[in-house]
Amino acid sequence: MDYKKRWNVDATELLYKDNLAEEIFEARADKIDFKLISDVVKDYKNILDIGCGTGIVYWYLKKHNKLNNKNYTMVDLEIGNNKVCKKINNILPDLWDGIKLPYKDNQFDLGISLSVMHHIEPKDISAFFKENIRVCKNFYLITCIGDGEIKEYVKKGKKGICAWHNYHKIIKDNNLKIISDNKGYKMRTNFLLNKKDK
Ligand SMILES: C[S@@+](CC[C@H](N)C(=O)[O-])C[C@H]1O[C@@H](n2cnc3c(N)ncnc32)[C@H](O)[C@@H]1O
Repeated sequence: MDYKKRWNVDATELLYKDNLAEEIFEARADKIDFKLISDVVKDYKNILDIGCGTGIVYWYLKKHNKLNNKNYTMVDLEIGNNKVCKKINNILPDLWDGIKLPYKDNQFDLGISLSVMHHIEPKDISAFFKENIRVCKNFYLITCIGDGEIKEYVKKGKKGICAWHNYHKIIKDNNLKIISDNKGYKMRTNFLLNKKDK
């Protein structure tokens, strides 16, 4: 399946073309649970940001000196995002196809996934999630969730799909331990997950 066809590859570059990046990031930073994210990353050294987009998590953590002595790797499938990330953060994220991440099993101490999973179609979520956790010993999932039930496809907008998944089931099916489960900003859920057999 061609994920790139579904995700609007050019939109991000257009949005950021007038160098509005810092302003956009500042405005968004208020709506994201960066304090929670900062708190989680402090315990890990090798971190992978999966679906990093334009690199807002890196940008925030770096700005607040939370990345000292850490290796922070970013990966995304959208080349437009990657280019904006390079412009803002001076790092070009790795590119992937949305199916196979270019890393070894358990290569990272922590994987971060901010606002990615709810863009995956219900029929793909299981394989997608498995691939994410394959490369990380621990996983920090920050996503939109409804009431824990699988909901129908809720929106099909310009920027790909938006779907709610039953994360509690996915977590259980993958034999993961929930270290913390915080309610973040509005509908966001922050699950810190640990592989029982890493
Ligand atoms: C809403 S953005 C979030 C980006 C970043 N984590 C942030 O919070 O700013 C969703 C990201 O997921 C990626 N994405 C969307 N659909 C995907 C798919 N099917 N497979 C892999 N990545 C996908 C996109 O490239 C995009 O960067």
